[in-house]
Amino acid sequence: VDVTLTWRGAFTNAELNVLHAEGFGSRVRDDDWLGQVEGHSLGWVTARDAGGELVGFANVAWDGGVHAFILDTLTAARAQRQGIGTQLVRIATERARDAGCEWLHVDFEPHLTRFYLGSCGFGSTPAGVIALTD
Ligand SMILES: CC(C)(COP(=O)(O)OP(=O)(O)OC[C@H]1O[C@@H](n2cnc3c(N)ncnc32)[C@H](O)[C@@H]1OP(=O)(O)O)[C@@H](O)C(=O)NCCC(=O)NCCS
Repeated sequence: VDVTLTWRGAFTNAELNVLHAEGFGSRVRDDDWLGQVEGHSLGWVTARDAGGELVGFANVAWDGGVHAFILDTLTAARAQRQGIGTQLVRIATERARDAGCEWLHVDFEPHLTRFYLGSCGFGSTPAGVIALTD
C-alpha cells in the first residue's frame, strides 16, 4: 500500500480523535492530542495514505531516560492487515533507539499477541497494571 510514515508528523486533534474512536470503539472525544504528545512524548508516528488521509498513528511515551513505551497504536479499519501497524511500530522502535532508549515497552490485550510478539518482534515478559479509576 502507498502509505507515508512520518516521525513527529503533523496531524490535527480532530483527525486523531476520529481515528482513536474508530480503533477503540468509543465515541469521538475532544482530546488535545497535540498538547499531550508535544508536551510529554518522545515522539509519535503518523501514517497517511496517497490521498493524505490519516490512516495510522502510534504514540511513544518516555521516562526521560532509557525507557520508552508505545501507546495508542492505531490503524484505520479500512487500512488494517496491510502491514501499516507493523511499520508504525518499526519506526517507533528505530527512533526510540536513535534517541538513546534501551527498552521499548508495550502492553496489549491477548488477541493482539500475534501482532506485537509475532509481527513487531516484542519479547514476552510478565507485566502488571492497576486501574486507578473505577
Ligand atoms: C492493532 C492494530 C494497530 C494492527 O494494525 P494493522 O495495520 O492491521 O497491523 P498489520 O497489518 O501490521 O498486522 C501484522 C500482523 O499482525 C497480526 N494482527 C494484526 N491485527 C490483528 C488482529 N486484530 N488480530 C489478530 N492478529 C492481528 C497478524 O498476524 C497480521 O498479519 P496478517 O495480516 O498477515 O495476518 C490494529 O488492529 C488496530 O488499530 N486495532 C484497534 C486499536 C488497538 O487495539 N490498538 C492496540 C492498542 S495496544
